Formats: sequence, C-alpha cells, structure tokens
Amino acid sequence: MAAKVRPLIAGNWKMNGLKSAAQREVKKLAGRMRKQGRPGCDVLVCPPAHLLAPLLAAVKGSRIALGGQDCHAAASGAHTGDISAEMLADAGCGYVIVGHSERRADHGESSRNVRAKAEAVHRAGLRAIICVGETGAERKRRQTLAVVGKQLTDSLPKGCTARNTVVAYEPVWAIGTGLTPTADDVAQVHAFIRARMQRRFREHGAGMRLLYGGSVKASNAVELMALENVDGALVGGASLTATDFWPIVQTSI
Ligand code: PGA
Repeated sequence: MAAKVRPLIAGNWKMNGLKSAAQREVKKLAGRMRKQGRPGCDVLVCPPAHLLAPLLAAVKGSRIALGGQDCHAAASGAHTGDISAEMLADAGCGYVIVGHSERRADHGESSRNVRAKAEAVHRAGLRAIICVGETGAERKRRQTLAVVGKQLTDSLPKGCTARNTVVAYEPVWAIGTGLTPTADDVAQVHAFIRARMQRRFREHGAGMRLLYGGSVKASNAVELMALENVDGALVGGASLTATDFWPIVQTSI
C-alpha cells in the first residue's frame, strides 16, 4: 500500500457568497482550526473571485488556503469576463479548480480546454484540481471507468506531479443531489484512477491527491474519507458555512 498522502479538504462555493457573511464564515472556520491545533490535512476554500481579496484578509494567520474555481488558458488578453491563473496567483490563490462538470456542461468545456487550463495553472505556479466524473446515464450504461479514463487521458497535461496536481472524482449525478455512490463504487473508481496516475506519472501518480466530490456532508464524510485512495474531498453545498464544513474537515484532521 502506498504511504498515506496528506489529505486536502476543499470547499467549492460556486456562485455563492457575499462579503460580510463570507468573511464571518471563514473566520469561524479559522477559529475552529486554531483551537484544534495543527490540522493533519490541508484546508482550501474556493470562493467566487470577488471574495478573494476580502477572504485573503480573513484567512490571514490561519492555515486556510484560497483557490479559484476556473481560469482562462491564456495569461492575459482580450477575453472579457475571464480570469487568468496568473491573476488568481496575484490574488493570493494556491489552487485552481479546472474542468468542474458545471463548467463542462454550462460552458461547453472539452477535456482539451481543461488540459490547456491545467497547463496554465501549472505555468502560474499553482496547483490544479482537475475534475472528472460520469453522468447518471453513463453510469447506467456501465461506462463509468471508460468515461473517467478518457477524461483523465485528455484533461491531464504532461508534467503533472504530486505537488502541482490534484484529481477530483465527481460523479455528475451526485453533485448537489444528496445522492452518493456506494463506498465500494467510490473505492473502485479511485483505485482505477490511482492505477492510471501511477502508470502515467510514476511515483508522482502514487502521491497525487485523489479527492471525492458529490454530496459530501458530515454524515457521509467519515466513511468516504476512510476509503483507500480517497485523499480528501471537494465539497460544494456543505462548504458554505463553518458549521457544515468543519465536521468534514475534522474527519481528516
Ligand atoms: P456538492 O458539490 O457537494 O454540493 O454536491 C460538489 C461539487 O460540485 O464540487
């Protein structure tokens, strides 16, 4: 068995959050972490871009990192409404989520686009959290491993290391629905991803963090986080308040 890697519990706030309430929640989370002492996992919050500056002030002195939810592949230029990985680095981010299924579905992002974005994240010296996952229809057709395998091949650029890349397995049908795969199903997909990563990235693949995402909450986090090859969680709805997020962080502390 590979040595246990340091888990990452990441909150993806999506398009939620306004300044003062967001600062309050993050300060509350930081306070709980401080009381607990040195956490045995990394903790990340990925808010909408307008909250990066106010939250950077709120996390100061804590061990909470900030991340972006998406980026453009270019460093700068005529791309109205977009944000680059360099800009996210400039705003104090340590990570950027790329290839989330909501980006793939709502913005027609292909795995090729995702790969270019992941390259941009690496270029900016940040860590990419690259998301993959099958739809409900694909799972019913028993295509989960084929779909995830193809997304991994096409979305992960050359040069991925255990340090600069995190893979998040997020079954699309489990996101925001309250549904989760069985522990056996999650373990099977994660073992498959681990094997793929080791084959392609050798020892880096062995040490790369593999997150599970999709309706993670306090009530299922203990079971999910205990699974082999599950090195943390990407949490949407249950990351929006410290009250919901803290018990999930605690499963990996
Ligand atoms: P959820 O979202 O936890 O609300 O299901 C997870 C995600 O989309 O990253």
